[in-house]
Amino acid sequence: MTGSSSSGRPAAGDGHYGEDLFEPEHPREAERIDAAALAYDPVTTSRLRSLGAGPGTRCLEVGAGTGTVARWLLEEAGVEEVVALDRDTADLDDLAEPRLQVVTADLTDESLRPGSFDLIHARVVLMHLPERRRLVSRLANWLNPGGWLVLGDAVEVPDALDTSSAYRRVMDAMWLALRPTIGTDTSSVPAYPHFLREEGLRNVAAELVCPPLVAGSPLARFWSETWSRMRPALEATGQVDAVVIDEALAYLASPRLAELGPGMVMTWGQRR
Ligand SMILES: C[S@@+](CC[C@H](N)C(=O)[O-])C[C@H]1O[C@@H](n2cnc3c(N)ncnc32)[C@H](O)[C@@H]1O
Repeated sequence: MTGSSSSGRPAAGDGHYGEDLFEPEHPREAERIDAAALAYDPVTTSRLRSLGAGPGTRCLEVGAGTGTVARWLLEEAGVEEVVALDRDTADLDDLAEPRLQVVTADLTDESLRPGSFDLIHARVVLMHLPERRRLVSRLANWLNPGGWLVLGDAVEVPDALDTSSAYRRVMDAMWLALRPTIGTDTSSVPAYPHFLREEGLRNVAAELVCPPLVAGSPLARFWSETWSRMRPALEATGQVDAVVIDEALAYLASPRLAELGPGMVMTWGQRR
């Protein structure tokens, strides 16, 4: 399944998010996604509002997950319509709303034609899809004139002086494990502003947000649940064993926790 790319990093695997990891039917998957959403929704929604999400706008929420952003667009921003697209839309069932159109589809499906939009938002989706550069192009092409594309994906700002703590080793093993399994790769996230310029978008800008990683917080629970779910894949990297994973999990839940956790780069640009 694995191999090495010319960059020396493991090659992207042919697995899929939701099939080979993070299965939506897992009893704690919605809770895991919601924990990250709790940490990031304030900054996401504030950015979407500043870019004009409001009455009269037609929005596409890509990889809508449990629907927290779609719900905010409808209930708080009062947009005209939201198309919520995801491979698995079971968690969107309780969002019944005439202004919401739920589309169960794979973003990589070339036949997908969801229409055109004033705002397209994809958070923590493209990083999991090896076809991300081509998908940026597709999303940009679905914008109405004047419409905004907003991409949020993870980056790490690791402490280069720490090469041996359990936390660092498990976090590194996680990124290492994600690429050959489902194709996750965050290395091009800082290049998203360039991608949007290449697509001809204007007013391109980006910001990095690293919410505090505090024991007991939703974000600490998110990483804890993510690592617990990935145990076999983490151990398969050969970089960590069960003892190191247990130590890292205990650290995440302890008052000793002192880390700048991974953050999210939000990048946006506007169609002419
Ligand atoms: C990490 S979750 C993020 C959910 C949501 N965007 C958020 O930030 O709360 C990734 C979401 O993308 C969806 N997804 C992954 N690959 C997809 C694909 N190829 N097409 C459509 N949705 C996909 C998953 O089902 C999941 O709901």
